[in-house]
Amino acid sequence: MQSSENKATLSFSNGAPSVELPIYKGTVGPDVIDIRKLYAQTDMFTYDPGFMSTAACQSSITYIDGDKGELLYRGYPIEQLARNCDYLETCYLLLYGELPNETQKADFTRMVSSHTMVHEQMQFFLRGFRRDAHPMAIMTGLVGAMSAFYRDSADIHNPKHREISAIRLIAKMPTLVAMAYKYTVGEPFAYPQNHLSYAGNFLRMMFATPCQEYKVNPVLEHALDRFFILHADHEQNASTSTVRLCGSSGTNPFAAIAAGVACLWGPAHGGANEAALNMLYDIQKEGGVEKIGEFIKKVKDKNSTVRLMGFGHRVYKNYDPRAKLMQETCDEVLTNLGLGNDPLFKLAKTLEKIALEDEYFVSRKLYPNVDFYSGIVQRAIGIPPTLFTAIFALARTVGWIAQLNEMIADPEYKIGRPRQLFEGSPRRDVKPLGQR
Ligand code: SDX
Repeated sequence: MQSSENKATLSFSNGAPSVELPIYKGTVGPDVIDIRKLYAQTDMFTYDPGFMSTAACQSSITYIDGDKGELLYRGYPIEQLARNCDYLETCYLLLYGELPNETQKADFTRMVSSHTMVHEQMQFFLRGFRRDAHPMAIMTGLVGAMSAFYRDSADIHNPKHREISAIRLIAKMPTLVAMAYKYTVGEPFAYPQNHLSYAGNFLRMMFATPCQEYKVNPVLEHALDRFFILHADHEQNASTSTVRLCGSSGTNPFAAIAAGVACLWGPAHGGANEAALNMLYDIQKEGGVEKIGEFIKKVKDKNSTVRLMGFGHRVYKNYDPRAKLMQETCDEVLTNLGLGNDPLFKLAKTLEKIALEDEYFVSRKLYPNVDFYSGIVQRAIGIPPTLFTAIFALARTVGWIAQLNEMIADPEYKIGRPRQLFEGSPRRDVKPLGQR
């Protein structure tokens, strides 16, 4: 944080003395007003329930310019990373701040590949779930349970432990997600094969059965790897802020990441990809393209809670750059699979076109976000909608860890403890039962 001479003066119409607050400049993006001393100086809090105007931390990992529709991981544009790097290079970049050279990439890949198995006991943990449990319920349990199996890397204040648990989480999430899937479809788990790529290994664990060898389709492998890159990190979104707040108590990294998994599940956040595909299915069932007008009318009706899932974003007030890359990936996968005329993809593109010309969406700067097309890609790969968010969690684990480790490594960090505007009852005395 670059300190600056610039200051904000807060004055009060009730004659209370005004207060000067320092303003800091980042390397790029909005300046911040440091209000840490505000309560001590004014006996007042700021009020910002959805954190619409609040910077909760300083970070050098991911930068988003919502007006330009720009997303940078450690300064590199997401478009360049998606086209020139693979997911493990992106993991290295997010964790260590620089893209790896060939030797560093080989070492990091070897390290991740040699941690892909989970403790053999973890398979029995799944048996406690019904077979129709939502994979995100299973993942919230499994990731939290890792803190029971990997206690030798659970001290968040030990840099070595932070590095080992980062590798363990990145390496084991695909294995756990595939196990959650296999459990729900009643098939045996497939062990990781470490000669395969990160995405290829995941595809094999998902779809291989003991009855026949599974051959990784390079187009699907590349599409999934790009999918992971696009979902790897995204500044201080709800689940990342959850991980930071949870980790700020000093809890172990597995528990903090499990909190992120739980938060990501929500339909307003990572659950939107599953909701967006189900929305397209519903419109398709109602009659497809001809029914888009009717659906949009419902979305615009103030009394309805219907939202255009996969549209809108707290930060992007322009096209989410990930949505463009996801649409490109959609095209590649569907064409390769001979599904170029996939009705759902055509429906999604028509729905997008109509929405982007509609005043309701234009005036609210609502554009497709990362979740609008991601469901169509995953469905084409053969992934069931209920698993979409678990795969989002798999990809986002590296971002959560990078942000958590950045916070813990900052000597200035404190346990997060927001305050409130209290609107409840002032002090009152308990009456005896007979007098209530
Ligand atoms: C992700 O934060 C991140 O970075 C998240 C994420 C990441 O990588 O971590 O990018 C991943 O979560 C993407 C977002 C996925 N969610 C969805 O697609 C669900 C649908 N979208 C929304 O619910 C909504 O757009 C949010 C939650 C994403 C953002 O909501 P905000 O910023 O709180 O905005 P808002 O709800 O106050 O909406 C502003 C206006 C409202 O209308 P008015 O009250 O002003 O009349 O826009 C409307 C909203 O009703 N609106 C929508 C809409 N999104 C906002 N109307 C219809 N459909 C939508 N999708």
